[in-house]
Amino acid sequence: MKQIRIFRRYDESRRTAYVEIEKWFIDVGDVLDFDLFLLEGNYSEKTIFLPKNTPVDVNIKKEMDDHRSLFVRQSDLPVYELFVDKVVQSAARNEKMPITKKAAVIYRQASVILDEMFENPEELENVPKSKTVVNTFVGTIFSDKHAIESLMKITAYDYYTHTHSINVCIYSLSLGAYLELDSVMLEELGMSALMHDLGKCRVDPKITNKNGKLTESEFEAMKHHPLYGYTIALKIGVHDRLILDGIRHHHEKLDGSGYPDGLMGKSITLFARIIGVCDVFDALSTKRSYKDRMSSYDTLMLMKKTMQHHLDMEIVDAFIRMQKHDDILSVL
Ligand SMILES: [Fe+2]
Repeated sequence: MKQIRIFRRYDESRRTAYVEIEKWFIDVGDVLDFDLFLLEGNYSEKTIFLPKNTPVDVNIKKEMDDHRSLFVRQSDLPVYELFVDKVVQSAARNEKMPITKKAAVIYRQASVILDEMFENPEELENVPKSKTVVNTFVGTIFSDKHAIESLMKITAYDYYTHTHSINVCIYSLSLGAYLELDSVMLEELGMSALMHDLGKCRVDPKITNKNGKLTESEFEAMKHHPLYGYTIALKIGVHDRLILDGIRHHHEKLDGSGYPDGLMGKSITLFARIIGVCDVFDALSTKRSYKDRMSSYDTLMLMKKTMQHHLDMEIVDAFIRMQKHDDILSVL
């Protein structure tokens, strides 16, 4: 079995002695070989949350769910990875695995695939691999009524291009299912969302990894990525117009001020409008080294208040309803 690599999302905390873990892997009944910590505020303040060898009971599990992030010592990372490997391996034969844990497993598998895809974007294998990721997500969404909630919960908080792509894929599929798209449409939408930023591989990494606001010329260079992504997708064998169109047009805006083609209104296809909404939502609600994350509520409120000329508000409203923040709709 392929060794699961440690995500890049750990890089920021690697400067210190603690690393964030994917808490959804831990369940009632588990006895961990590593201490768990809470880190309040910045990465240097830590409090022990659960000493190792303490069985996780219902109350501890509930408390874990309430905390945004949990951490282990850097030196315990190999033991944690071993624990995760066991969970991932048991997922295939454990049909009764709770949906939150199952969601964490498929998110991690998707992360490994996307990490590789962004390293080698022009590999032909990327198409079947992406299909596997999307089919697993769609299958999970249709198999369990709590799947969407669980998948939305485990989306990564820190922004990296490959986790951003998975988050946008999960949001787009959830929204597509909420809008009652059929499974064929959902699979196409998922592929388009998963590959929407693939073109960033062809932009100078100094620009894509920059900590801070882009200069005008850097932004101009960044604006090429939808077209690059479209070209790469075509090159590796994606011929479905809907998928290609979502990749090419996810930065178009309703008032025609977007790029690369300056399309307006409904000439921007449904997929591009859905991916556009999910893309903005994830960019605002994830943490970057130069900015903290916004809550889902504040992000949706900001989108609703300030982006009516850019985003399709019917889709934004559906996204708000889906996340059960209907009060935003009555405020505005
Ligand atoms: Fe993009």
